Amino acid sequence: APAVIRTIAEIRAALRAYRAEAGATASVGFVPTMGFLHDGHASLIGRSARENGLTVLSIFVNPLQFGPNEDFERYPRDEARDLDVAARAGANIVFMPSVAEMYPTPAATQITVSGVTERLCGASRPGHFDGVGIVVTKLLNVVQPDRAYFGLKDAQQVAVVERMVADLNQPVEIVPCPIVREADGLAMSSRNVYLSADERREALAISRTLAQVPAWIGSGMSAAQLTAAVREGISASPLADIDYVEVLTYPGLQPPASDAALAGSRERIIVAAAVRFGRTRLIDNILISFP
Ligand code: PAJ
Repeated sequence: APAVIRTIAEIRAALRAYRAEAGATASVGFVPTMGFLHDGHASLIGRSARENGLTVLSIFVNPLQFGPNEDFERYPRDEARDLDVAARAGANIVFMPSVAEMYPTPAATQITVSGVTERLCGASRPGHFDGVGIVVTKLLNVVQPDRAYFGLKDAQQVAVVERMVADLNQPVEIVPCPIVREADGLAMSSRNVYLSADERREALAISRTLAQVPAWIGSGMSAAQLTAAVREGISASPLADIDYVEVLTYPGLQPPASDAALAGSRERIIVAAAVRFGRTRLIDNILISFP
């Protein structure tokens, strides 16, 4: 079973001991999460365990990345189950700090990554990526990993963290990992437990529609046409309340020429959606690379 550590002083000591013991061959992989772990999180932990001598998992529901009307208070939590998933996936240390341990005084320092945060969740969740920036920086400073693993389920978060780490020379390799889906295609998310049976069924409209994107691009669609087709596909579900559907370059997250065919684009393209089903906001995306 992994060691459970709740203070910064103790995890620093544990990592110092590991590095002293392992010497030149030491390598630390880090997987930051907010817990309520599922197979998407487990895939990141497993990959880290395969690629590093020691894997640190953090579980911290970061209040700074939630807006005032968002789900911080009701975000699902289950420590015992998380420790079980962490053990089976191969984590060696689980760092579970309290809010007071992470923020003994309100942080006066802000981390704002401009450009890549202009659209998508950066536009619809003001302040969200500042909150992600500060917590990820603090966690990286505490753990000082060689590699940190992030899921492309949150593709904009990957772009933000990659840009922040490059801009600030944070000494870590960011490893983007593929989206893990339920058998029927729904992207795994801790928030999926909020869905009623009807909403769960209709939420499939997102992944089903995104799965058609490669064929639509192959048929010669432009960004504007593709955006409209994806909106229409998702809207076929009467319970879907679309927050955004956008077609952008990746990782720059800027609009491609809206009337040119996307096929043959020199940059990668992301098609990203955020959709509410009842009170639950789900996100999903597909990344397309052109040879
Ligand atoms: P959380 O939503 O718990 O996600 C933790 C990590 O798991 C993120 O890198 C996320 O992209 C990845 N992940 C979630 N669902 C996934 C899926 N279906 N397939 C693959 N990877 C998936 O993202 C956060 O927490 C927070 O913003 C955090 C980075 C921990 C900062 O607080």
